[in-house]
Amino acid sequence: MNVWKEGKIGSLQIGNRFVHTATGEGLCTEKGEATPRLLERYRSLGRLGAIGLIITGHMYVEKSGRMRPGQTGIDDDALVRGLAQVVQAAKQDGSRIFAQLAHGGIMTMRTVTGKEALGPSKMTINGSDDNRALSLPEIHALIQSFADAARRAREAGFDGVQLHAAHGYGLSQFLSPYFNRREDEYGGPVENRTRIVTQILHKIKSEAGCDFPVTIKINSTDALAGGIRLEDALQSARLMEEAGAAGIEVSGGCALTQAESGPMRPVNPKTLKGACYFRDEARFFQKHMRIPVTLVGGVRTLEQAEDIISSGDAAFVGICRPLIREPDLLIRWRQRIASQTTCISCNRCLALSRTGTGVFCPHKL
Ligand SMILES: Cc1cc2nc3c(=O)[nH]c(=O)nc-3n(C[C@H](O)[C@H](O)[C@H](O)COP(=O)(O)O)c2cc1C
Repeated sequence: MNVWKEGKIGSLQIGNRFVHTATGEGLCTEKGEATPRLLERYRSLGRLGAIGLIITGHMYVEKSGRMRPGQTGIDDDALVRGLAQVVQAAKQDGSRIFAQLAHGGIMTMRTVTGKEALGPSKMTINGSDDNRALSLPEIHALIQSFADAARRAREAGFDGVQLHAAHGYGLSQFLSPYFNRREDEYGGPVENRTRIVTQILHKIKSEAGCDFPVTIKINSTDALAGGIRLEDALQSARLMEEAGAAGIEVSGGCALTQAESGPMRPVNPKTLKGACYFRDEARFFQKHMRIPVTLVGGVRTLEQAEDIISSGDAAFVGICRPLIREPDLLIRWRQRIASQTTCISCNRCLALSRTGTGVFCPHKL
């Protein structure tokens, strides 16, 4: 199977097997509106349609779930016009684009939202307990907010949405027994912990249409004692598949885990030690599921991507940090001008995306 050959998510045709995975940009106004710098970023990613599917950075579906300064908003109809320009820029040469929908849960901060954080359960996190559990009516309102956001995404021209249920943020907290200590229908066994996601899937189908693809980024493990384990994550993913998910992206870890077991791990740029660090997990999910799996995490060469696709370990290959440094990387890979990235996986881009300066690679090309 060739990486440059078309793939499918739901009934949506994707030009090749490469996915630009969600990358929080921190490039919007304080109201979450798109800026010229954001448009420029998507214009460069969309060039020549070299990236089959571009997934945006996490967009907040409710102000209570805003995580970072400069984060993109999708919580208001007034934002649709600006988002439509982002879509146009990304799709200029035939790439597809999905909006990533998110809520920070108890990882949000008062400095950003002006309020206490809301999540599945109250708990002390990084020494702070400035949070509380969502009430049942608030959970129902949050489900509606995700569906409203998906409807806005469709109006703006996005080809689908991805729910951010990974990395220890809001939906991921519901899935994880480490964060979710609820005793009602949203806590306890896997079915209950997955309920918020399956209900969002159903609601999106009724608000944005059954033909609008929804994928989900999940944690294969939280890498936390008492957190989600691989078998539970697979059970959750199968419930999502039954509820109509069109694909999953397999990641792992969260802000509380060590860098070596988190979502953005080091990869040695010379020896490539540490590359493709979720390959076993992606293979496990793809083996047990019919919907396409995207493998993300440390893919650094064209040969690695080709091997992943030809082995059938995943249907799509996700790349993030290298495309921050080299948005035209896949043009050069496709033309065989290069087959590797010059990204050193140092995570300076991550720190920058969170400070208000916006995401970029600080190292000279
Ligand atoms: C600057 C930066 C921002 C990120 N923002 C998001 C995000 O908004 N949503 C998400 O699901 N993952 C996000 N990620 C994680 C990536 O999508 C990806 O899972 C991770 O970086 C591993 O892939 P890589 O080795 O190709 O970078 C971000 C990563 C970086 C470095």
